[in-house]
Amino acid sequence: MRILKHLFDNNRAWSRRIRERDPEFFETLSRQQAPDYLWIGCSDSRVPANEIVDLLPGELFVHRNVANVVVPTDMNCMSVLQYAVEVLKVKHIMVVGHYGCGGVRSALQHRQLGLIDNWLRHIKDVYRLHERELREIEDFDELTDRMCELNVIHQAQQVCHSTIVQNAWARGQPLTVHGWIYSLQNGHLYDLDVCFSCPEDVEPIYRTTSGPTP
Ligand code: CO
Repeated sequence: MRILKHLFDNNRAWSRRIRERDPEFFETLSRQQAPDYLWIGCSDSRVPANEIVDLLPGELFVHRNVANVVVPTDMNCMSVLQYAVEVLKVKHIMVVGHYGCGGVRSALQHRQLGLIDNWLRHIKDVYRLHERELREIEDFDELTDRMCELNVIHQAQQVCHSTIVQNAWARGQPLTVHGWIYSLQNGHLYDLDVCFSCPEDVEPIYRTTSGPTP
């Protein structure tokens, strides 16, 4: 008997349901993918990218890690970003956090958890940048939720600071970076109203150009 047989049963039933709607679905999709979106989200099992926006396989390119952190020295995240922008030519990148994020919560605390402390330290930097505002919040859950929002905004900015995104803009490639947050309580996505689509949306110190010095 197969190990985890129920997952294979689920898989076959899922595949059957999709083919009932569109018999050619998998055959067509196996030839190429052409997603318009790159989703950078949290690994949390309660925040499954495709389901939340009700998109089918082939429609969403996805990168997930603990607390949706974007670090320029993370070859994994940067490779996903480069491939999505330069090869797939996605039109939108959404950094999607979620309220009550365990990674953000842990970053606000002082207990060591192991290797992951090194990853979560990037989030402590976000706290430090907004310390004045955050120190006013007494309730820890409220503090965590505000930090989840600020973390999304910061990581969306990190995407825009990359040479990958800036070179795409310089080429005139349409590309917009969004900051969204998801509520585990009601399953709703919220737009944090941050949107970057040109070099002028980036703080001057982070603007770079690959051409001759202007
Ligand atoms: Co999370």
